[in-house]
Amino acid sequence: MSIFSTDILKKTDAYVPGEQPQDKSYIKLNTNEFPFEPSDAVKAVVNSEKAADLRLYSDPTCRVLKNAIAENYGLDAENVFCGNGSDEVLALSYLAFCKKEDTVVFPDISYGFYPVFASFFGLTYKEIPLKDDFSIDINDYFSDCGTVYIANPNAPTGLALNTEQIEEILKNNPNHVVVIDEAYCDFCDCTAIGLIKKYENLLIVRTFSKSYALAGARIGFALGNKELITDLEKAKFSFNPYNINRLSIEIGAAAMNDREYFEKTVAIIKENRDKLTNDLKELGFTVLPSGANFVFAKKDGFDGEQLYLKLKENGILVRHFSKERIKDYLRITVGTKEQNAALIKTLGRIIK
Ligand SMILES: Cc1ncc(COP(=O)(O)O)c(C=O)c1O
Repeated sequence: MSIFSTDILKKTDAYVPGEQPQDKSYIKLNTNEFPFEPSDAVKAVVNSEKAADLRLYSDPTCRVLKNAIAENYGLDAENVFCGNGSDEVLALSYLAFCKKEDTVVFPDISYGFYPVFASFFGLTYKEIPLKDDFSIDINDYFSDCGTVYIANPNAPTGLALNTEQIEEILKNNPNHVVVIDEAYCDFCDCTAIGLIKKYENLLIVRTFSKSYALAGARIGFALGNKELITDLEKAKFSFNPYNINRLSIEIGAAAMNDREYFEKTVAIIKENRDKLTNDLKELGFTVLPSGANFVFAKKDGFDGEQLYLKLKENGILVRHFSKERIKDYLRITVGTKEQNAALIKTLGRIIK
């Protein structure tokens, strides 16, 4: 800390992202990236003469990207907000909707950025414990005391609520926005998009980082009613109007429009997830049923951190969290068949 740092900066524990090693190459199953390359349509944009246009500012309305997203989901462009990764969309949602006098709520085990944003923006927050089986008890979210953040499927557990359960939460928070973070929703059938027209307090946050193989392009978006989107636009125009670079706007639209590639590759990941789950179970691991592109698993009698370190020594990166309740678990991104097989083989050797 410098002598100039603000109290809020001093009090905030910054988010710690998963390792992004730049020195050595690993089988990288630690930050839920997509193991396949982006679609050819995306590569065509990157390799086109559009790079020459980088001298110009990007479109602050992200029109091309919004239109592609709206068309895909059967919504209007005015229902879509675009951000520099869904992290930025989430941050702007805190600025737009979380009031000082309220209490922001989210599960105690969920995306690690939720408490960081709350702390950084000087907000009161409450972390609600998951049940013993790591599921969310929706009754815990009926207090209507502030913005609700729920990752669905949840991370790092992979467990998902169904649409009826999301609807109950929306009904019971009529005075606050309920943010459903659907970063992993393309890997299951639990989206709340169908509720947008019915609930003015629903904001869905999504990303191109996982199912569209574009983590490095930094593109996220929100879907909701026109008023919520207008508020987010106001927050963005008070902060960083050109928030998405020119190439990423075009890249996102190209990826969204290539439905064939999206469907084909997401289907492979789901298939690989089932096989990975079964293989881990055969090694004696407990594996939570995952609706995401990762699995959350532990092996009784083995320390999670030791397993993580041993895998790393063997060139395989997975994610370990030191939080007491989940310290024996590993969060393993679903990779290609070959990557998953290498993981299983190495784990088998380690636990022998
Ligand atoms: C639940 C959840 N939400 C949001 C994000 C942020 O994704 P991005 O900023 O890459 O869109 C992540 C990233 O891992 C996540 O796990």
